[in-house]
Amino acid sequence: MILEASAKLNLSLRVLGRRDDGFHELESLMVRLDGLADRLEIEVSDEDHFSCDAPGVPADDSNLVIKALQLFRRETGIRDRVRIRLEKRVPHGAGLGGGSSDAAAMLAGLNELSRAGLPVGNLTEMGARLGSDIPFFLGPPVAVVKGRGERIEEGPSLPSMRVVLLKPGFGVSTPDAYRRWQDSRELEGVDYTPQTLAWGDLVNDLERPVFQKHLFLAEVKGWLRRQDGVEAALMSGSGSTMFAVIDEKADADGLIARAREELDPTFWTWVGRTVAG
Ligand code: C5P
Repeated sequence: MILEASAKLNLSLRVLGRRDDGFHELESLMVRLDGLADRLEIEVSDEDHFSCDAPGVPADDSNLVIKALQLFRRETGIRDRVRIRLEKRVPHGAGLGGGSSDAAAMLAGLNELSRAGLPVGNLTEMGARLGSDIPFFLGPPVAVVKGRGERIEEGPSLPSMRVVLLKPGFGVSTPDAYRRWQDSRELEGVDYTPQTLAWGDLVNDLERPVFQKHLFLAEVKGWLRRQDGVEAALMSGSGSTMFAVIDEKADADGLIARAREELDPTFWTWVGRTVAG
């Protein structure tokens, strides 16, 4: 069975407060990306086997895919051996939900492969135990996500938007971003105010703590907002991917070439569209 585990963007991410369990209460408008996805192949086999084309991806239970497999086995008692092949296309530490999407695909895939027939609500609840972003990937492609990430509501109707993604060589630690959120200060000269498009506002409350540590990302945001054809520019999740919503006629390749020349020649980049809701 071959599964596509697509990446996400947070079009808005509001942090409402810190909870007693250490997590943060969120309200986020999340959307899947069309065509940016990891590929996960799973089949019943004589023995468990895991392989991945990306170097350094662990094959033990520090990997969310393996955690998902173990949790599924514990919850269902189904112990079929499985052969797993993971092709990574979505960079990690990027705020694009790559690992979470893999885990969600794994839960959904195992449910089908083993004919366990668990309702999606059970899969979502299992996903939430593994990571805050996982429930989103088991729900609709455009969703408003609440709680610590486990409450999923169908999102507003959104057009498919053209986006350019720029990710520098470094990633950002999510726990670190949240830890800094409360005490973070705004950097002078950086504009954090919501950017209004026809369907609503783009804003990310984690920009403040993350930019304080990674000034370069603030520079990328400012730079993107000054470019022709850019309607809005924001960090996704806890970073380090910065994305721009661009108009239909914008020269995306030219934008990327200039970003590489003027900001960072080693950017990982992607041009495509969000999934319409
Ligand atoms: O749930 P997940 O393991 O993806 O979260 C990683 C870390 O991000 C958590 O350990 C926590 O520090 C932080 N986090 C948070 N509030 C959320 C989601 C994540 O504080 N709603």
